[in-house]
Amino acid sequence: MKVLIVGSGGREHAIAMCVKKSPRVDEIYCAPGNAGIGEVAQCVPIGAMEFDKIVAFAKEKSIDLTIVGMDDPLVGGLVDELEAAGIRTFGPRKNAAILEGSKAFSKDLMKKYNIPTAAYENFDDPEKALAYLEQASFPIVLKADGLALGKGVLICNTLEEARDGVKSIMEDKKFGSAGNKMVIEEFMTGREVSVLSFVDGKTIKIMSSAQDHKRAMDGDKGLNTGGMGTFSPSPFYTEEVDEFCRKYIYQATVDAMAAEGREFKGVIFFGLMLTEKGPRVLEYNARFGDPEAQVVLPRMKNDMIEVVEACIDGTLDKVDLQFEDNAAVCVVLASDGYPVSYEKGFPITGLEKFEGRDDYFVFHAGTKKTEAGFVTNGGRVLGVTAKGADLKEARSKAYEATEWIGFENKYMRHDIGKAIDEA
Ligand code: AMP
Ligand code: GLY
Repeated sequence: MKVLIVGSGGREHAIAMCVKKSPRVDEIYCAPGNAGIGEVAQCVPIGAMEFDKIVAFAKEKSIDLTIVGMDDPLVGGLVDELEAAGIRTFGPRKNAAILEGSKAFSKDLMKKYNIPTAAYENFDDPEKALAYLEQASFPIVLKADGLALGKGVLICNTLEEARDGVKSIMEDKKFGSAGNKMVIEEFMTGREVSVLSFVDGKTIKIMSSAQDHKRAMDGDKGLNTGGMGTFSPSPFYTEEVDEFCRKYIYQATVDAMAAEGREFKGVIFFGLMLTEKGPRVLEYNARFGDPEAQVVLPRMKNDMIEVVEACIDGTLDKVDLQFEDNAAVCVVLASDGYPVSYEKGFPITGLEKFEGRDDYFVFHAGTKKTEAGFVTNGGRVLGVTAKGADLKEARSKAYEATEWIGFENKYMRHDIGKAIDEA
């Protein structure tokens, strides 16, 4: 079987490694991929938004299965175009990827189908948003409606900050057209958990839980990033929480999408907040998380191809989805200065130490291969993952492995998984 993966980050590297383990797979391609993915797949220089070129490539190579990893092409309708050309594809169509592509849509869906989430209002007029703020209580949360690289959420402590926020989202278009509409919602407190799931339109199967660390600095300080590290499973995702979510959130979301004529096939990522009143949905994503995939997929026992095909064929109810009874921690090695400004092009040493080890992984995010070897080529450079018998062991192994890697301006958080000690 020939598989094409669309995307270029650590998540797609984790997907590629998982796909490679399937005995049914002969060739793996990745568009555009990155230097690390190039070690497990053949990278093709086609951007994830170059739909015509991706379709032409898939036809030319007789690709049997395409897996779309990234949000932008999903929301833009790449799956529809591949399917129209007769290419089997894993991921939601455009009319279902809107679950991630529009926060106003997802909030209205949750309200209509009684799925627990924060109270909110949607706005497409800044004057009305400003008027609403006059009688609101603070802190309050402003969200640009569309995709904004995970940065379109502002938590405002005062009316003044919120007014500035409305202006920057809706008038100054800080997040571009993502800010044509916005959601204003109630501020919630609690622990956050990421739950990924496979969905075939009707059936949903939940993967092992995870927790991300979005802020750049230790102690959850500094700016929001694409994710500085993860651990899986989350000790706060108890049986009680799981039971609640199965009853009120997971199947309810799949059924709601089907009832709206937007059958969802692919991965639904539930961003949950465990509040005092019970779990609430913070957001939906229509894909694997990054860097959640880097701790969840290495623990999956199933053949990924079997699961993905069951999602496409609507036979997920026949799949017994299983995860190893262990834990994994991923620490992101970034370039100092990320997410604001940073230098690139520094040689990376120590990558060979990961070769031939079953429970250590190095996922590439921003690297490039030159004649002199691998060099840094982005803000998030590598994701170092280790598996262990439990979270503590996984964490100490992951941090041990971060020491194997060297590059100038190497930066990481030192408290990934610190929450484990409070469990
Ligand atoms: P989102 O992209 O919607 O997940 O938001 C990004 C981050 O903002 C989340 O991971 C939370 O930390 C925070 N956040 C979003 N919505 C809320 C909310 N209603 N209350 C408190 N924090 C929130
Ligand atoms: N780690 C959060 C995300 O992938 O959106």
